[in-house]
Amino acid sequence: MSIPELLTTIGGAPVNSVEDWETFRRPEIMDLLSEYIYGKRPAEAEINLHTTWKITDAKENYLGHPVRYEKVLITAGGYTFLCRSFFPMTDKPVPTFVYVMHEYQEKKYDFETSLECLNVPILDIISRGYGIAIMPTSGLYPDAEHKANYKAGVFAYFQPDRSLRRDNDWATISAWAWGASRVLDYLTGCPFADEKNAAVVGHSRGGKTALWAGATDTRFALSISNASGCSGAMLHRGRTEGGETVKVITNAFDWFCKNYSKYADREEMLPCDQHMLVAAMAPRLCYVESCSADAWASPAAERESCRLAKDAYALYGMTGAVLPDEADIEADKAYHDGNIGYHMKTGEHSILAYDWTQYMDFWDKKRG
Ligand code: GCU
Repeated sequence: MSIPELLTTIGGAPVNSVEDWETFRRPEIMDLLSEYIYGKRPAEAEINLHTTWKITDAKENYLGHPVRYEKVLITAGGYTFLCRSFFPMTDKPVPTFVYVMHEYQEKKYDFETSLECLNVPILDIISRGYGIAIMPTSGLYPDAEHKANYKAGVFAYFQPDRSLRRDNDWATISAWAWGASRVLDYLTGCPFADEKNAAVVGHSRGGKTALWAGATDTRFALSISNASGCSGAMLHRGRTEGGETVKVITNAFDWFCKNYSKYADREEMLPCDQHMLVAAMAPRLCYVESCSADAWASPAAERESCRLAKDAYALYGMTGAVLPDEADIEADKAYHDGNIGYHMKTGEHSILAYDWTQYMDFWDKKRG
């Protein structure tokens, strides 16, 4: 299957400079990804949002730890959802992660009583001088396994009449990414966060969301996808044996605009592919993680998107991913030389403290 060229416009013109990229090709790519995969947001969710936030609980030495805690209700365009943030107790604003926490994880933890969290090692993050804002996705749109059909959350609020939905309308991943951007709005006004150094992170469906958030909101300095797989970092045209397909994912979930389902078993017809999503981060930082036993997410195809995205970075005189050929890829090794970081953890589909250590090592090294 031939892979859509990153540096050739739809009209066939070569893209040779940052100006060509930013004026012509990147906007085209964002349009293709919106139109065919993630959907377009309604104007109501994009303009005159006037984001505000209300801190409903604020504590220092939270639960006996050297942590500054804020429980926040964020309101944008009239829609309100919850987020919790944790910062070190320092005087200076700190680089901060926005974590897209999906419901499976959300249900496992109670941050009102404990900071123990297998998937987000809050105390390690704090001890390394980073902050973290955790956004439960349920506040934006419930993560119902059996398709909630856009009856709830931001969809019901911004577009109550579902009969008006079009095939290219936004869907769940876009809604969660919208939420991550609103959390960043709050961080820009938060004295503890250095909003110029904000990263968005997510696991699996959250990883797909983190990439779309980083593509749509260039204020994110770093976008981190953990085991994002199909419709995340996985190149459709590079999918390996056992990898998830457009047919399976669009049958099971209402995460994407309807147009995407038309490409079920017709991936070769997609006018875009996921290397374009990774390339949309250039010249900012990006990070992709895979798990060695996660054939469903097709690690080799996640790496292939990273490799192909390098051409966009090259326009800026920067390196993208510095990865060896497939035969030489090693698990549990940090590939941190370029501006797209990568590692593959040994084991099953998961986000664990080991991953966060890699993310922070990478960000320590690359941060401006
Ligand atoms: C399913 C889905 C994946 C997704 C994962 C998750 O397995 O098929 O695409 O990444 O759920 O979010 O946990």
